[in-house]
Amino acid sequence: MRILYLGDIVGEKNIDVLKNNLERIKRENKINLVFANAENVSAGSGLTQKHYKELKALGISAISMGNHTFSKSEIKSYIDDASIVRPANLNTTYGKDVLYINYNDQKIALVNMLGRVYTNTPLDCPFKTMDRLLENIKADYIIVDFHADATSEKKAFFYDFAGRVSAIVGSHTHTQTADEEVYKNTCFISDMGMCGAYESILGDDIQMVIDRFRTGMYEKLKVQEDDYYKINGVILDLGKDNKIIRFAERVKV
Ligand SMILES: [Fe+2]
Ligand SMILES: [Fe+2]
Repeated sequence: MRILYLGDIVGEKNIDVLKNNLERIKRENKINLVFANAENVSAGSGLTQKHYKELKALGISAISMGNHTFSKSEIKSYIDDASIVRPANLNTTYGKDVLYINYNDQKIALVNMLGRVYTNTPLDCPFKTMDRLLENIKADYIIVDFHADATSEKKAFFYDFAGRVSAIVGSHTHTQTADEEVYKNTCFISDMGMCGAYESILGDDIQMVIDRFRTGMYEKLKVQEDDYYKINGVILDLGKDNKIIRFAERVKV
């Protein structure tokens, strides 16, 4: 089974970009399922129900989130019934710890976890949370989107859970890393990258980010728009021998 997992989608403009490209990408890469991290879709943080429905209509079967899961509070009204998994180590009753996706006669469990290094959020330990979840998960494949800043934390999580899950894919830094590997049949990459404006700072407005660093003044950032977009992610080829292939395209809108 081949899953295309897209890195953080930054801005709703990507919905048009994906509308124009996703079917071709699926065909060219023999993709069966598409998953995505969608914590930055709506104006750069959070996911409105309208945008959630549009992503689903594009054929995205499963969505993971991150530190921006509840940035649009309307998500509380629809997350319980949606194909969305929110970080399992957040202390909330909204949403699911594990999202199950069925494909033919196979079952995939998708988990989302937040790292604790450099984050100011009070979070449960991602390692102990994963230990607890694994006691109850029944699935043919288990995929974890580890949403975190520090590559050391991501890598530690990978070596700890290698052999116990099918894939651990990193998100949050919006910059694709070239460290994909398979160990004990578990696929790993520190970060899948992002879907967003090609000329941008992690998807956001270039001048606003420069001003933030130059002045120290903190204004809410706008999403950058551009004539070209990057579509970043990984292809997880899961079966007897699991494989991970980096995916990166630059496309015209
Ligand atoms: Fe993000
Ligand atoms: Fe994030």
